[in-house]
Amino acid sequence: MLGVQTLLISNAAGGVNANFKVGDLMIITDHISMFIINPLLGKNEDSLGTRFPDMSEPYSKKLISKAKKIAQQSGYDLKEGIYCGVTGPTFETHAEYKLIKIIGADAVGMSTVQEVITAVHAGMRVFAMSIITDVGIREEDNKITHEEVLAAAAEAEPKMTALFKELIAQL
Ligand code: HPA
Repeated sequence: MLGVQTLLISNAAGGVNANFKVGDLMIITDHISMFIINPLLGKNEDSLGTRFPDMSEPYSKKLISKAKKIAQQSGYDLKEGIYCGVTGPTFETHAEYKLIKIIGADAVGMSTVQEVITAVHAGMRVFAMSIITDVGIREEDNKITHEEVLAAAAEAEPKMTALFKELIAQL
């Protein structure tokens, strides 16, 4: 309604890629949305978008490539990967983290996917990035707390803000 054409999203996510560590930034290149209620269920709002939206490029390849260039120039190490959307509010069990890894995701979180589906339906281009705030596939003691998530997000936030600022400048 406001005429937004580009949507930039950030989130906190749990890592399920064994190469990820707490504090990593991950560009989302694609997502898996089979664990959430699709926000487009129900009568379609034709004035916003089509009944059956294409999802072949939910995350703009152009924006991803711009962000990678910015990170390279700034000396930031950026991961990239697939984000699996879940409803929460529980964090995942060991078995669920394992399943999410097996189906091809690198990170898991409770937001973003619904927003991206809605934005793509309305014709927006999207860029999204996760802060890996916990690692779900640790075999040993793997308690995850909201406090741990908040602390990791706060620590990585300045790097993410710098990246987003530069990306916005280049839109
Ligand atoms: N799982 C789901 N959502 C999350 C996580 C997680 O491990 N960390 C931050 N948001």
